[in-house]
Amino acid sequence: MHSLERVTGGLARAGQSHVLQFWPELCEAERAGFLQELSQLDLPGLRDHCEGAARAAAATAARLDRQMEPVPPESIGSTRKSDEDSLAMWGDEGLLQISASRVGVLLLAGGQGTRLGVRFPKGLYDVGLPSRSSLYQIQAERIHKVQDLADRKHGSRCSVPWYIMTSEFTLAPTETFFKENDYFDLEPSNIVLFEQRMIPAVTFDGKVILQGKGKLAMAPDGNGGLYQALEDHKVLEDMQQRGVQYLHVYCVDNILVRMADPVFIGFCVTKGADCGAKVVEKAYATEPVGVVCRVRGVTQVVEYSEIQPETAELRGPGGELVYSAGNICNHFFTRAFLQDAAASYKDQLKQHVALKKVPYLDASGRQVTPSTPNAIKMERFVFDVFPFSRNFVVFEVEREEEFSPLKNADGLTADGPTADSPTTARNALLAQHCRWVTAAHGTLLDEDGNPLPPRASASAVNKPPARCEISPLVSYSGEGLEELLRGRTLQTPLLLDEKRAKELQMNRAL
Ligand code: UTP
Repeated sequence: MHSLERVTGGLARAGQSHVLQFWPELCEAERAGFLQELSQLDLPGLRDHCEGAARAAAATAARLDRQMEPVPPESIGSTRKSDEDSLAMWGDEGLLQISASRVGVLLLAGGQGTRLGVRFPKGLYDVGLPSRSSLYQIQAERIHKVQDLADRKHGSRCSVPWYIMTSEFTLAPTETFFKENDYFDLEPSNIVLFEQRMIPAVTFDGKVILQGKGKLAMAPDGNGGLYQALEDHKVLEDMQQRGVQYLHVYCVDNILVRMADPVFIGFCVTKGADCGAKVVEKAYATEPVGVVCRVRGVTQVVEYSEIQPETAELRGPGGELVYSAGNICNHFFTRAFLQDAAASYKDQLKQHVALKKVPYLDASGRQVTPSTPNAIKMERFVFDVFPFSRNFVVFEVEREEEFSPLKNADGLTADGPTADSPTTARNALLAQHCRWVTAAHGTLLDEDGNPLPPRASASAVNKPPARCEISPLVSYSGEGLEELLRGRTLQTPLLLDEKRAKELQMNRAL
């Protein structure tokens, strides 16, 4: 059948004929482009998608309070509470797996970053560190370093392949950025970019939205689109060919992310887990983050909207929150689990509703920029596969060491800089590096030449103690600094990159 006829019929059956309202006004080239876009839609599933979205948006969130229980202690590891020997053993196990090239990292980078409000992918963002590194550069250098740590310990020449899920919005600029930066000296064949699917945004009464006369308003299908994308692009086959067995999955915007963290990997492998989540303790009971817990005996992430404040406030005997395991989108999966997820679980994942402001063309052909949400975007989340895990573990880490996401544009609130902004991300990293210097028995001088107090203040997100940045090529998580810095006094601003580290080493040797 002619594709226009097929598309017209499919749209009519889905109750979406308005999509072709402006067809007579389009020129040949516009028609060809639009027809191609429409041909890629899942037309048989379109009615369900639109009606389902409208129904889901009208429904109130289910309350899960009565069925919830915390993850049992035997499935939890913690950088704060586990003993030093266990942490060292997990770190060793992780490095061993990395040295055998059995570990890959998988980045979720298909989001549109609407809150940050930039027109390029978030990974390209420079938060204003002394090095002016982008998030991608920081991540690439951490891959270099973790490979190097594993190779030094085991005499190997390993690689940690970097799988990057992009979307229609982020694929081309991400590819260009990596090329322009010579893949940050990583082996280009070890960086695998692939694209997730897009789905139409829908009005509250279940109609597909036109963005232009020959263009639908489409959005990526959420970071849980990963499982479909893995299948679409045969990514799991690539992992299998390379012998990758374990994946560290993470979000693009956490400036403190520990790529292929050996301790986390080692903990999950030692416990025989198929699936794991790094969490941070919730900052306060009603903090709007998802909580990793069990519901009717099955592990899942419960959104803050799904529980009553009194449940969020529940406390244990020591005064600690019962539901404190804040999800930070930092996960471990075995390849075998991902294979099952892509083959069977993905079609059973629930869909989440996001209400957004989406510019549209009204029935008279006028462009409208709404000031309140007018559109439903349906999304799947990467963590929605947790309930299928047979052995799920949780690893609790310290927020100030491992979690500072970049979500919002810079701004000021009564309490200081806007939360989760370029300023807070930058400050979190600088404060961490000041702490590393102190732990290595070095002294930093502030810009007036005064020694800094030994411990960085708790208000580091508002103002870091000094501008001190340590390149990931010098240290992954604070290791190796003592031999360089013990007893030394260093002026800030300081960028301790490889060159500076070599100079310090040479001076020491003299
Ligand atoms: P967020 O939910 O924070 O979304 O994504 P975002 O796109 O970065 O920002 P907003 O909400 O538009 O302001 C968390 C992680 O999931 C990825 C993002 O790139 C980020 O790493 N993501 C999100 C995808 O990979 N695909 C998606 O469809 C959505």
